[in-house]
Amino acid sequence: MTQERRVALVTGGSRGIGRAIAERLGRTGASVIVNYRADGDAAAGVVDAIIRAGGSAVGIQADVTDPAQLRGLFDAAERRFGRLDIVVSNVGVARFAPVAATADDDFDACFTTNTRAGFLALREAANRVSDSGRVVVISSGVTITGRPGSGVYAASKAALEQLARVLARELGPRQITVNCVLPGAIRTDALAAGVPAEMAGRMVAEIPLGRLGEPDDVADIVAFLVSDGGRWITGQSIAAGGGAF
Ligand SMILES: NC(=O)c1ccc[n+]([C@@H]2O[C@H](COP(=O)([O-])OP(=O)(O)OC[C@H]3O[C@@H](n4cnc5c(N)ncnc54)[C@H](OP(=O)(O)O)[C@@H]3O)[C@@H](O)[C@H]2O)c1
Repeated sequence: MTQERRVALVTGGSRGIGRAIAERLGRTGASVIVNYRADGDAAAGVVDAIIRAGGSAVGIQADVTDPAQLRGLFDAAERRFGRLDIVVSNVGVARFAPVAATADDDFDACFTTNTRAGFLALREAANRVSDSGRVVVISSGVTITGRPGSGVYAASKAALEQLARVLARELGPRQITVNCVLPGAIRTDALAAGVPAEMAGRMVAEIPLGRLGEPDDVADIVAFLVSDGGRWITGQSIAAGGGAF
């Protein structure tokens, strides 16, 4: 696989972890499709940053929870660059509450976005990624820790990890790798908005490396997995928590 010619699609690539992954892949020489749902300015900023660094990128709006928009995103990516080598399924939502107090809406939000939209992205990737390509799912360390309050979030991400594990075996004969990366607490808008302050404090206290994770900490792991050096790793769920799990 020639590094320079690869085409990468990052869902939710306009902010947070997805943004760091998109910019990191752009620096490796990949042409990057920066997907976003609503914030076109943020996506344009990522595209600009990649192009200023000498790379190639385009922003494409699509709500990945809508099957038609998701298919349209993959179609547009292939039309624009003629091929697809790397798919990073990054979009996800978190809801935190004890199981006893979890609302039906929280269950639906997690399973609609994390599991169903993740499945839709994996299915498209399975049908479109070139031989020797790479598929990466951004899951969460809560699938390992069983943290109280993470029930429906952890369950929805765990289901997606199982899909990825099976897909890795199905795509192995084509030398396509499929892996999940499981971040711990990472400094993003979602963390600031969605995690109660006392839970965030406890998360940092549990991290042996002694700090909150940064989006680039995750992006570097993804960059390795999609590089030629990652060719012998597939079907794995890789902890990216600074040693917390
Ligand atoms: N942050 C953490 O501590 C942490 C820890 C473990 C796992 N994770 C996982 O890491 C992933 C990224 O999280 P993050 O914290 O970086 O999120 P974030 O900062 O909230 O960024 C969300 C990104 O996804 C896009 N997006 C959201 N819903 C979308 C949809 N339905 N269709 C298309 N794009 C959509 C947003 O675009 P718009 O702005 O245009 O809506 C934005 O680019 C998620 O899967 C999350 O579960 C995060």
